[in-house]
Amino acid sequence: MLGLLGEQGSDFAQKVDYAHDIVTIISVICTVLIVGVMIYFAIIYRQKEGKDHETPHIHGNNALEVIWTTFPTLVCIWVAWLGYDSFVDMRNVPDNAMEVNVTGRKWAWDFQYKNGKRTTGELVVPVDEPVKLVMTSKDVLHSFFVPVMRTKMDVIPGRYTYEWFRPIKTGDFQVFCTEYCGNEHSRMLARLKVLPRAEFERWLADDSEARKLASLRPSDRGKELYVSKQCVTCHSLDGSPRVGPSWLKLFRKEGKLADGSSYVADENYIRESILNPQAKTVAGYPAMGMPSYQGQLSDDDITGIIEFIKTIDGSTKVDVSQPAAPKKPAAAAGATPAERGKALVNAPDNLCATCHSIDGSKLVGPSFKGLWGRKEKMSDGTEVTVDADYIKESIYKPQAKIVEGYGPVMPAMYEGKLSEQDVSDIIEYLKTLS
Ligand code: CUA
Repeated sequence: MLGLLGEQGSDFAQKVDYAHDIVTIISVICTVLIVGVMIYFAIIYRQKEGKDHETPHIHGNNALEVIWTTFPTLVCIWVAWLGYDSFVDMRNVPDNAMEVNVTGRKWAWDFQYKNGKRTTGELVVPVDEPVKLVMTSKDVLHSFFVPVMRTKMDVIPGRYTYEWFRPIKTGDFQVFCTEYCGNEHSRMLARLKVLPRAEFERWLADDSEARKLASLRPSDRGKELYVSKQCVTCHSLDGSPRVGPSWLKLFRKEGKLADGSSYVADENYIRESILNPQAKTVAGYPAMGMPSYQGQLSDDDITGIIEFIKTIDGSTKVDVSQPAAPKKPAAAAGATPAERGKALVNAPDNLCATCHSIDGSKLVGPSFKGLWGRKEKMSDGTEVTVDADYIKESIYKPQAKIVEGYGPVMPAMYEGKLSEQDVSDIIEYLKTLS
């Protein structure tokens, strides 16, 4: 009726929405009536000059008592029945339901199917068939909520809980974690993909990707991940400085951390730096430079990366021309220079947005907001007005001038990658960010 809960994706949705509508309508009617009468009485029975202040003596009215006890009781029983009816549906899983194992962990959802296929952040199911999720948590309380299916259940460490639904339409839908579970709770999301039966079967049987990765030697797997997970952007293999320390002869390397203590780059140090990069920051590198890969890499992946790092002796070459990241978006016909510049800044393989915000917040590099025309103080004490020449130099030769308060960490990777035209488009875009 009211459509307050949005798109309906399962056969629970109708009953749930009906109950929700009824409760909403009753609440609105009661609120309007009670508050309305309250205001009305307050006005007509207010204290008036020259009137008697004594109130009349009123006896009970049996008929009224019976009506206003019976009627609300019946309404409450009806509402409770509506809830109970849906609850029974949701707790009784059809025998033919397909089971999927779900594991919640800070901060991602893992799914595993009966044939062994695993996914992270993507639950794929066939349409018109019941799906049962058998769920548990590796760490803290989470909650698996699929709004479009109208189903939600807590996910608890050391215990299994379940929920089920029968999708009635194909499509891509949002899954949320709805139990606060730490810093990245709001980003603990997943996609629910509902496919036609045949397409689902094909997807389920396709294990080419997993087979390929599993069949690789650990160090080769690490090498694949080095490119596909974008480690390459910040960590060189030849000792050259980028946003993060080079991986050249990194294994067993000793050094100083930002807090003055020392570290040895052994397996545990590398593992911690991947999962919790802020725990130990190497001196001279930005503290917030690296995002956590918690949930994006399996234990086997991490072992692979460690094994790969052990092999890096200066002779290692990787083919960076095949990263998984999408290529530069083709400039849309008729786009203005500023629009083209915006697309370049946001293109994943250009990585500008990783270090430069457009809302004024301080990331690894200065924010782009209000940058054009700003006077920036440099680390050598000089002052520079941000103009076209300065921006061009900062893109092509990032180390030439360093803004005070920032580290010399921007990679010199744009010469040859961005044309003069690209740079002038980016400048046009920056001019719009006042
Ligand atoms: Cu997991 Cu919130």
